[in-house]
Amino acid sequence: MLELNRIYNLKCEDGIPQLADNSIDLVVTSPPYNVGWGGYIDNRPYEEYINWLEGIFSLLYPKLCPGGRRCVNIGEGKKFTAWAYGIWRFAPESQMVRVFDHDAVFPEELPRRCIKMLSWIGAVVLDPFSGTGTTAVVAYELGRNYIGFEEVKKHYQTSLKRLRWSRHKLL
Ligand SMILES: C[S@@+](CC[C@H](N)C(=O)[O-])C[C@H]1O[C@@H](n2cnc3c(N)ncnc32)[C@H](O)[C@@H]1O
Repeated sequence: MLELNRIYNLKCEDGIPQLADNSIDLVVTSPPYNVGWGGYIDNRPYEEYINWLEGIFSLLYPKLCPGGRRCVNIGEGKKFTAWAYGIWRFAPESQMVRVFDHDAVFPEELPRRCIKMLSWIGAVVLDPFSGTGTTAVVAYELGRNYIGFEEVKKHYQTSLKRLRWSRHKLL
């Protein structure tokens, strides 16, 4: 069984089945945008991409507690736009390429709003595409538990560094 407050250097397809059923209160994530970025498969034909994402979300479903929520940050596209209930606009994360060496870090404000609105102190927040660990860092700073999965080792290592900085900041 996986431990809380850890990021795992695993594909989420392999990590999610190891989570206990009904153990996750909130999912906050930004899946790959399928625009051809490096380090993982990011150029699937559109239907295949949607089917792959649907497969992952169906793996997640039994892991959510009753009433658990999923917040998914997605790229633009007809189907995606139709799925969205509203649009939030943020300045992009400006340190992402220079400091984090990642093309798609989301601004901390995005997981912060989701986590504050939809969870409570001690809740368990999962990011199955954890990247540089933004969701985990914010969850930790807000007194939530976190779990993350990240396939690419260098991003996983960046997330461990960011979590260490956060722990220092809060000590
Ligand atoms: C859009 S980025 C997420 C960035 C993250 N929100 C952040 O702030 O750093 C998507 C991430 O998913 C990772 N990824 C792609 N396929 C994956 C998989 N099957 N399992 C786990 N991680 C995966 C990529 O390496 C990338 O870091």
